Amino acid sequence: MLITAEKVESVRQQLQEWRTNQQTIAFVPTMGNLHDGHLSLVDQANKYCDRTVVSIFVNPSQFAEGEDFTRYPRTQEQDLDCLVKHGVDLVFIPDVSEMYALPNLTIVEVNDLSGQLCGEFRPGHFGGVATVVCKLFNIVQPDIAVFGEKDYQQLVLIRTMISDLKMAIKIVGVPTVRANDGLALSSRNQYLSDQQRDIASTVYKTLCSTREQLRTVETMNYRQIEDQQFQHLKQAGFRPEYFAIRNADDLKPPVQDVTQQRLVILVAVWLGQTRLIDNLLV
Ligand code: PAF
Repeated sequence: MLITAEKVESVRQQLQEWRTNQQTIAFVPTMGNLHDGHLSLVDQANKYCDRTVVSIFVNPSQFAEGEDFTRYPRTQEQDLDCLVKHGVDLVFIPDVSEMYALPNLTIVEVNDLSGQLCGEFRPGHFGGVATVVCKLFNIVQPDIAVFGEKDYQQLVLIRTMISDLKMAIKIVGVPTVRANDGLALSSRNQYLSDQQRDIASTVYKTLCSTREQLRTVETMNYRQIEDQQFQHLKQAGFRPEYFAIRNADDLKPPVQDVTQQRLVILVAVWLGQTRLIDNLLV
């Protein structure tokens, strides 16, 4: 049976009961509008622990001025149906005042990581993410928490926060779920027109061809590859923000011309009014 809670206190009471019975808790934070990508996180969570908790909260503090906070799709009824089908035990659906009682003076900032890649183009975004995830972790106090690799920078940021703040939570990253043509599933894909949707898979194709290049060429100039692929996306009709090859663990730029490194290729582009992000581990 799915329990729905809107108040922090109700979540705490329920979790207390499960913990008293020695049950372990897995947690999947979401902003709702659930698709197969989210549901793959829930399925993973179910494998690890006795109880699975999901939160649905469109977090205002991670949207910059002028971003899509008000038009972000909210589909609570459908979401709850999906969560029942996937065997979730508790869903926490707070309203904004429950999460941000005023004045809310404390924020969590993961320096360096917050200001680069997506952070450079979305000022304040990662501060908002780290703050809300920290609050949610304090409310749920899960044994494990599950995040998608689709938001790769977010995943690295959360791992860093967990380590820096000595939180006893194991973070599990789950591979990106893709449509047949490779486009990473995202709630924002529904903003795309049919014509844009056809073009959108070029992002994944570009990531794949870059990975191929990185695997086959002996020595390489990463900067040159980034510039080439940036131009390629521009010609295909996107407005790219960045195309970057980084160290997969800390997102630092790779050492030039050294091939034995665990790398990740990350990209953010605009297609019309829609911002798409994706990445690929090498
Ligand atoms: O990835 C998301 O959906 C959000 O950034 C998260 C982690 C739920 C925080 O609001």
